[in-house]
Amino acid sequence: MVDITRHAEALAVLADSRYIPPPVRQDAPEGTLAWLRARASRFSTGQAHAGRRRLLEDLLAALDPDTLRDAARDLTLERDGRWEGVPVTVLGHALGFRDPGLASAARTAAPGYLSGEEKPEADAAVRDLFAGRGTAEDAVARVTLLLQAHDATEGLIRNALREARPGDDVARALERTLRLDPPLTVTRRLDRETGAEVRIDLVRANRDGEPHLTFGAGVRPCPADRHATALATGVLTAVLTR
Ligand code: HEM
Repeated sequence: MVDITRHAEALAVLADSRYIPPPVRQDAPEGTLAWLRARASRFSTGQAHAGRRRLLEDLLAALDPDTLRDAARDLTLERDGRWEGVPVTVLGHALGFRDPGLASAARTAAPGYLSGEEKPEADAAVRDLFAGRGTAEDAVARVTLLLQAHDATEGLIRNALREARPGDDVARALERTLRLDPPLTVTRRLDRETGAEVRIDLVRANRDGEPHLTFGAGVRPCPADRHATALATGVLTAVLTR
């Protein structure tokens, strides 16, 4: 295991296509969480990654961050500050999901989407998210956006709220959290040539570089940094200025 803690080295690894995300199983039954992971941009490489990522970018380009921000603020106010589930509900509505069980299904499936842990209830949640949408690429892209968004965005908001006080400047609180207390602290790669595992410590890398690496960098940075920041801004505005 190679441990990367310096900003320059982290950038170099993230920009080099020789370092790939650790491979995921490709033989899971259709409609399961493991099947979804095998089709997600996040765990793909090469041409498959490029094509899947482009589809996500096109879907995200159709969503206006300011509209997401305002919708997240309004829904948080409507719920008297109970903000959990708000980011994924707002994003889901913007992506055409209307199911009232959307937030609970996303919450159930999101942890295993990142970790690879397989559980029957996560598979059931994935089935609910796909219900009535078929299993073609477009549906896969929309569901993966929800599952990618869920834990990271709620983690960002939770971390920001741990420090922030009512009346604090929301943009400043968020910027501080993004740099010092990111929701995703580590990302992993496999060296395609040597098979070595690489662990990139984003918190430590952030400490010795100018731009933070909280949204990743290089070949596969987060394509939704503006959307995530907008959703978090909306929720925090509602909670901190209520
Ligand atoms: C609207 C909310 C979000 C959406 C839709 C989203 C979506 C995505 C997607 C689809 C990817 C994979 C990119 C690819 O396959 O090339 C990704 C990667 C990533 N996202 Fe996000 N994301 C969201 C929120 C966040 C937040 C709040 C953070 C952290 C503050 C974050 C940090 C990252 C990082 C670090 C990566 C790169 C992982 C790596 O290189 O290993 N994301 N995101």
